[in-house]
Amino acid sequence: MAPSTIDLFAFGEDRLLELTAQHPTPFFAYDLPAARERFRRLRAVLPARVRLAYAVKSNPGLPLLETFAAEGAWFDCASAGEVSAVLAAGGTGSGMVFAGPAKSERDLQAALFAGARVQVDGIEDVQRLHTLHAGPEPLRVSVRVNPASGVSEAAAIIGGGGPSAFGVDEEVVDEFLAQAAAYDRVRVSGLQVFAASNELDAGRLLDNHRTALRIGRRLHETHGIELDLVDVGGGLGVRYAAAQPSLDVRALGAGLGRVLEENEWFTGELLLEPGRWLSAPTGVYCARVVRTKVSRGERFVMLEGGINHLLRPLLTGQSFPTLAVRPGVGVIGGRSASGVGGDLVPTTLAGPLCTSLDRVGTGDLPADLRPGDVVVLGQAGAYASTQAMTHFLSHQPPEQVWVDGAGAATGRAVQLSGSPA
Ligand SMILES: Cc1ncc(COP(=O)(O)O)c(C=O)c1O
Repeated sequence: MAPSTIDLFAFGEDRLLELTAQHPTPFFAYDLPAARERFRRLRAVLPARVRLAYAVKSNPGLPLLETFAAEGAWFDCASAGEVSAVLAAGGTGSGMVFAGPAKSERDLQAALFAGARVQVDGIEDVQRLHTLHAGPEPLRVSVRVNPASGVSEAAAIIGGGGPSAFGVDEEVVDEFLAQAAAYDRVRVSGLQVFAASNELDAGRLLDNHRTALRIGRRLHETHGIELDLVDVGGGLGVRYAAAQPSLDVRALGAGLGRVLEENEWFTGELLLEPGRWLSAPTGVYCARVVRTKVSRGERFVMLEGGINHLLRPLLTGQSFPTLAVRPGVGVIGGRSASGVGGDLVPTTLAGPLCTSLDRVGTGDLPADLRPGDVVVLGQAGAYASTQAMTHFLSHQPPEQVWVDGAGAATGRAVQLSGSPA
């Protein structure tokens, strides 16, 4: 197998073989030391004035949250449940932002109780916080602004420039601030602008960050707001195919330094809140082949799990990278290191659910794939397990396996043989 392909998988061939031998499929397995290493790698290239928050929605697994909390991460939460998970993992409210286009009263109360920085998406959030906030000082909040233009994306789930359920449209932000001024127990002192998703080009992310600072300058100069926090969101992309380039995080860090220098008026902190970049490469999904067939010229492989375990390919049209493991043998397929198996053939992956929607992507898989072989999907640490339709058709949810090769983190982590002590 070409190194660039195996790079898309959290574990090397030996460990994949070991994991699939040890654990009943289907399961997700996550590499906690890899998560720690990614956090440190990103932290190291960011200027000191840039805070790093982990977007919990990408993977809310407790061992992962504990790993990031131990590294001093901030957290981006979007529900009362995520707030509780972060607190349970050792995170604190002073390092937490809270976002969402339709926050319930329970959500707002959880965020206030924790002491998180709430990002308001409209005047209704301000009104409700004015009522709920009991402290002597006005509650500092950030306003999420939906920019008039944004970075486009290949697989758009959140974007900028168009109509959006998120935030206050840039065109009406003056009106919003005039209304918000009437609620004296709430003070807008921060800004969030986030208009990218899975972006692999550092320059395009930086364009988005410049847009945020341009809007911030307007808030500062027109409304006299001393911004203490400008949150530029996440959107840092990962490769889902070997041919894609990797995001140059060093260039992103250096660019953020320049963005800060260009904006002397801004003396607060910048917040970056990636989810996918930190968590996707730490996870794999492993499911056994139940049967294979060719239907009118198209090759199908039916797996134990489908959109009840992974929904993202159906939502975005983008597949997870695939490889196949034969128990007791190794990675199989034309490009495998072990060289077992024949040619790779284009394959549609389907699941066990009785609906034609149950497709979990496509991939080139060995022609001789057979029942009992395990298909492994890479980059499955983000927007996978908890983004799926878990309860549809009442199958068992997949097991979550947390591998801590450094032996450091939690009792729930699995130590693989041969892991460094
Ligand atoms: C407010 C907010 N911050 C951060 C993220 C994380 O985005 P990504 O996983 O693309 O980095 C999201 C994703 O939807 C988001 O809504």
